[in-house]
Amino acid sequence: MGGDGIVHEYPDTTWADDGPTHGVEAVVESGHVLAFPHLAFALDESERRFLDPRWADGKAKNVSLRWPAGELRGASGEPGDLAALQRMIARYADRSETLALRLFPHYRGQLRRGNTSFRPVDVAGRVRSWRQDDTRLHIDAFPSNPMQGTRLLRIFCNVNPHGEPRRWRVGESFEAHAQRYLGSIGAPWPGSAWLLATLGITKRRRTGYDHLMLQLHDRAKADAEFQRSSPQQHVDFAPGTTWVCFSDQVLHAAMGGQHMIEQTFYLEAKDLVQPASAPLAILERITGRPLLV
Ligand code: SIN
Ligand code: FE
Repeated sequence: MGGDGIVHEYPDTTWADDGPTHGVEAVVESGHVLAFPHLAFALDESERRFLDPRWADGKAKNVSLRWPAGELRGASGEPGDLAALQRMIARYADRSETLALRLFPHYRGQLRRGNTSFRPVDVAGRVRSWRQDDTRLHIDAFPSNPMQGTRLLRIFCNVNPHGEPRRWRVGESFEAHAQRYLGSIGAPWPGSAWLLATLGITKRRRTGYDHLMLQLHDRAKADAEFQRSSPQQHVDFAPGTTWVCFSDQVLHAAMGGQHMIEQTFYLEAKDLVQPASAPLAILERITGRPLLV
């Protein structure tokens, strides 16, 4: 698989509670990617047809389920087909949650289920602006959705039926990344966080933390020299591989592949085993300021 420094491999072959790996909170919180090369998400015979970009409605980037109701977004088709697609993606959400609570028992009762996304569109074919271009190394941070220190834990699985890997790059540590750009990031305009929230451009207040995270995301993607020459590893996730990381911490880029399914979980930084290794704590330490203001 390669990229052994950042990626830690585990032998699990089951999503269920009797799998061998548990209590690995410190590994994922330290900025590693946990990879399970023998943990496939099995599709029924009748679900194979969903591995086709025609189910994506072309407007949204992905097909997704929104919880708690689990409603299907971004898909087009007959109601019966869409119900079956919904059930397939919901099954992945359930499997992921079971796995997450086994790997990270400390998070029990604290992990909140975010969207589940199904990505039948080829990475290479997604036309995007530089800011939305996920083939550039980045940490996850979103203009309209300030996290206010809440962590983004993601469980990905390659469901490609033709042997094609999901090709990622992973980059430097969050601390090194913050040190690289923080000195050149200015303060937001006075009143801008209030204005963005009042106009409904952000779902909630863009804190100092969110300002820095978004700037790190944008600086990295806009910096061609960084993309080319910063420390990085290429990692291929073969079909049947599941991988887990805090995507707000691990520098990552998706270079190629098709047919992936992903579950996002939210976790408050205070519920980590080692809150000091979270982006919030690292940024507060480097800047010497509280950032949830
Ligand atoms: C990303 O999270 O940046 C993209 C991941 C992927 O599509 O493989
Ligand atoms: Fe990303």
